Amino acid sequence: MIKKCLFPAAGYGTRFLPATKAIPKEMLPILTKPLIEYGVEEAYEAGCEVMATVTGRGKEAIEKHFDTSYEVEDQIKGSSKEELLADTRNLMQNCTFTYTPQKEMMGLGDAINKGKVLVGDSEPFAVILADDLCINLEGVNVLKQMTALYEKYQCSIVAIMEVPMDKVNKYGVIAGEEIEEGVYRVSSMVEKPEPSEAPTNMAIIGRYILTPDIFELLDNTKPGKGGEIQITDALLEQAKQGKVIAYKFKGKRFDCGSIDGYVEATNYFYENLLKK
Ligand code: UTP
Repeated sequence: MIKKCLFPAAGYGTRFLPATKAIPKEMLPILTKPLIEYGVEEAYEAGCEVMATVTGRGKEAIEKHFDTSYEVEDQIKGSSKEELLADTRNLMQNCTFTYTPQKEMMGLGDAINKGKVLVGDSEPFAVILADDLCINLEGVNVLKQMTALYEKYQCSIVAIMEVPMDKVNKYGVIAGEEIEEGVYRVSSMVEKPEPSEAPTNMAIIGRYILTPDIFELLDNTKPGKGGEIQITDALLEQAKQGKVIAYKFKGKRFDCGSIDGYVEATNYFYENLLKK
C-alpha cells in the first residue's frame, strides 16, 4: 500500500504574477477550494495518510491552511458556514502533514529528492503536482487508479495523456510498448522535446508513483534541460531496467499552472459541481 504522498510546491508560479507574489500558486482557489486541497483529497481517497510538502520561501499559507484557525472557527461556530470547512477538517483529522524546504529551485527532480526526509527511502510513494488538477469523470480518482496498478506491476508509474504534437515541448514525453490497454512499459523518455525530436505525443502529467531507489538515482542525476535536475532523467535510468510503467489515466486533467487551464477548471467546476 502507498501511504505517503509528496507535493512538490517550491515553484514560484511566475505565470500567475502578481497573484503569486505573496500567495503560493498551490493556494489559488478553484471556486472556494485551494488547488493543494484538491490534491490532498485525491491522495487521501487513494489511501495516503501522510501528506508531505516540499515548500519554498513564502509558502507558509499552505501550512496554515491545514492547521486550525481559532479565530475563523470561533467566528463561524454554530452557523451554517461550518459546513464550508467540513472537507478541510476531515483531511486535517485524518492525515498527517509534514513539510521541508527546497532552499534553491533546482528543478522537480531536486524537489522530489528533498522530500526523502519526509517520505523515507524504504517504501514506494506517490507524487502529486497540485497545479495539475485531475478529476474522475466516473469511478475512482487518478491516483487511486495508479495505486491499483502498482499492486500489479510493483514499479514506478507515470500518468500520461496524449497532447497535440506542437505542445510536447512543455512536457516529459515517453515511448514504450503497450502491455495492456492504456499501460506502457517505458523504453525512453525525453524532457520537453522539440516536436521534431519527440518519440510520441504521450506526455507525463503531475501524478507519479515512485519506488525509493529513485533517490539514489536523483543523487547521481546531473542538471539537464533548463539547468534543472529533472525527474525524467532519473526515471529514464529506471526505465532502462524495465521498471517504469506509463498509464493513460481515465479522467480529466486541468493544467492549472497556466492561465487557460486555470480558467477552464474554474468554469468546469462552476458549471458541473457548484450548480448541482
Ligand atoms: P512548474 O514549472 O510548473 O512550476 O513546476 P512553477 O515554476 O512554479 O511555475 P511558473 O512556470 O513559474 O509559473 C511544476 C511543479 O514542480 C514544482 C512546482 O512547485 C510545481 O508544482 N517545482 C518545480 C518545485 O517544487 N521545485 C522546483 O525546483 C521546480
